[in-house]
Amino acid sequence: MAASRQTIALAAVGSMGKFVCEDLLADDRFNVVVISRGRDEWFTSRNVPIHVSDYSHDSVLSILNETNATTLLSFLNLNDERYITIHKAFLSACIASQSCKRLMPSEYCGNIEAHPARPRFYGTTREPFRQILKTEADGVEWTLIENGWFMDYFLPKEKSYMRPVPDEFPINLDDWTARVRGTGDEPQSWTLAREVGRAIVALCADTKGWEPVTYVCGQWGTYNEVIKTMESFYNRPIPKTYTPPDEIRDYVAANLDNDQVYAVQAVMCDEWSIDGATEVPKETTLRQREKYFANCKFSTLEEVLGMAKGVRGVV
Ligand SMILES: NC(=O)c1ccc[n+]([C@@H]2O[C@H](COP(=O)([O-])OP(=O)(O)OC[C@H]3O[C@@H](n4cnc5c(N)ncnc54)[C@H](OP(=O)(O)O)[C@@H]3O)[C@@H](O)[C@H]2O)c1
Repeated sequence: MAASRQTIALAAVGSMGKFVCEDLLADDRFNVVVISRGRDEWFTSRNVPIHVSDYSHDSVLSILNETNATTLLSFLNLNDERYITIHKAFLSACIASQSCKRLMPSEYCGNIEAHPARPRFYGTTREPFRQILKTEADGVEWTLIENGWFMDYFLPKEKSYMRPVPDEFPINLDDWTARVRGTGDEPQSWTLAREVGRAIVALCADTKGWEPVTYVCGQWGTYNEVIKTMESFYNRPIPKTYTPPDEIRDYVAANLDNDQVYAVQAVMCDEWSIDGATEVPKETTLRQREKYFANCKFSTLEEVLGMAKGVRGVV
């Protein structure tokens, strides 16, 4: 291992984290260590060092110090108070560590500045931790990565590490239908997970300094527009149904106390979508693209569909 490489620690690497892990492994500026509750063959087969942890402060701190990590990336997928507890442990471990002074919490949402409480289960988990970061980071640099929807959900499942979410995403490739939330004209944005990962790698190497929120985007548009793109690419019409906005809002209002039920969270994602909250702000996104991501590509849906057609395995 080259002495000048920085070590990046990745915690709770599930679907999204695998893209980042692969790109960091391929980049000779970095060493990679994974912090996880267990050992997974995906990492061992790639010779990625795994440090088993209970995600407590003491456990994470000892791993950061042992590995001399400079940056901690979290991909934790929890939508209850454990999200806050574990991220507080990540932050306090960074504050106490000798070397790890950068933290990227697990976000991957939309325009969180205009819509901090969408989806609602982010409002009760990510949003309180965002407020903690603002006052308690104590010398730790942090940024929140926001990308809108992952574009991977337009692809057959074997083309991405992202697991399909047919209850949340309007287009269902298996039964070739679209259940459009709202009118279908609400503004959205989508970004390929692989390209979000490359932006994260660029930020790991960055020396300009991180902004509190970093936006990335492959395409802005509406579901009515992207359904047309799919129909034209596959030369096949997609049968569509539309769920009226009031139906979504009434359901959410009646189920606010059930926000740990997956079916309710799925409708809260519908609300995220019809509120236009998945749409990342264009001006800031393009400014940050120029500042940080001059060497990154952010593909449109049409480009991604074309790319996936020619690729074996994940894009
Ligand atoms: N914008 C979008 O379209 C979109 C879509 C999907 C996800 N997301 C967001 O992206 C982030 C990453 O999502 P993902 O799909 O990559 O996550 P994921 O694969 O479902 O899970 C990531 C990791 O979280 C850890 N984890 C899960 N349950 C846990 C528990 N009960 N206790 C402790 N750790 C637990 C696991 O790590 P270990 O087993 O290694 O401990 C898991 O591998 C999340 O914040 C998610 O909300 C956004």
